[in-house]
Amino acid sequence: MLLQEPVLRQDSSRNGTPKPPSLSFRLRYSPFLAQLVVIRRCNLSCGYCSEYDKSSQPVPFEVLEERLRKLRELGTFGISLTGGEPTLHPELPRLIRKCRELGFLRTGMISNGFFLRPELIEKLNKSGLQEIQISIDGVHANETTQKVLDNLKKRLQALKEHARFEVTVSGVIGASPPEEAEEVVSVASEMGFTPRVLLVHDSNGQLKLNSNEIKTFENIVKRLPKSWKEFSNYRKRLVHQGSSPFKCRAGSRYLYVDEFGKVNWCSQTRAVWSKNLMNYTLDDLREQFYRYKSCHATCTIGCARSASQLDNWRRQPGFLARNAH
Ligand SMILES: C[S@@+](CC[C@H](N)C(=O)[O-])C[C@H]1O[C@@H](n2cnc3c(N)ncnc32)[C@H](O)[C@@H]1O
Ligand code: SF4
Ligand code: SF4
Repeated sequence: MLLQEPVLRQDSSRNGTPKPPSLSFRLRYSPFLAQLVVIRRCNLSCGYCSEYDKSSQPVPFEVLEERLRKLRELGTFGISLTGGEPTLHPELPRLIRKCRELGFLRTGMISNGFFLRPELIEKLNKSGLQEIQISIDGVHANETTQKVLDNLKKRLQALKEHARFEVTVSGVIGASPPEEAEEVVSVASEMGFTPRVLLVHDSNGQLKLNSNEIKTFENIVKRLPKSWKEFSNYRKRLVHQGSSPFKCRAGSRYLYVDEFGKVNWCSQTRAVWSKNLMNYTLDDLREQFYRYKSCHATCTIGCARSASQLDNWRRQPGFLARNAH
């Protein structure tokens, strides 16, 4: 029986390279992606966001290094540094270099882009950053958002000229007039970045789009690459039917590690379930893999959905029975 499999030995030595679990375990249960909050503070106050504060200090480098080592011991494949705003962390390039030294297959970050001047971009190049994701809410600032093209064009130009890592720029529907999201996607494509579209959800994780926003969403999706369209079918179902069930593997294939070092399923369920990362075991990964998450049908967390996709064929007790209703 799966829950009785022996826990594999883990090397938690402070200085040596952490020893990941066996390949067979990793392929079955380890995180494809862990998002690590490096600082909760943010320079902006986007009206839709509940993931920032205005006062907290950066998580110290040594504490984050311990967390990264532990994530490696759990067999984590990819890391994404996030916040708050991760570029407010004074040791961001050193952290990225540490991720590369520890041997994660993919090291990326999510940023609002406001501090991406050429000097920082050059430091990120040198640190070995592989990917950055920036979402832009529209063209002109409004009372909900400052994360707009008018404020970010110079930063995008600097990225175009200096970045040696992949840059994904998402147009966002829900924080500005929808046609502005189309403009963002056009600019992103023209500048040679990878274009995407994202949807703003409310504090309960629900989408509330009007017909104009739905039409714009459809127009943008038509212009995106085929692979993205296929994966993004869940967004179409959410937009049109209000629900798109899936077997969420958060806590296993996808981890959200907050500033206190707690593993959460995702940023939206921080009050629902958590466990200290330093006490997290391979048994926890296995248990959370099979755990049914009742919030799955209306979930808007794209990275948790994509990290769960490969295991769609595998069982999750409770999933089919509950979806039959
Ligand atoms: C919490 S932010 C942290 C990184 C950085 N500050 C930024 O804005 O990209 C990570 C992502 O979550 C998105 N986000 C925050 N609140 C959201 C919401 N209510 N609906 C959809 N996306 C949201 C942001 O737009 C951003 O793309
Ligand atoms: S920039 Fe990012 S973390 Fe800051 S308020 Fe906006 S979405 Fe939230
Ligand atoms: S289904 Fe979505 S909201 Fe629920 S735990 Fe998974 S990622 Fe989080």
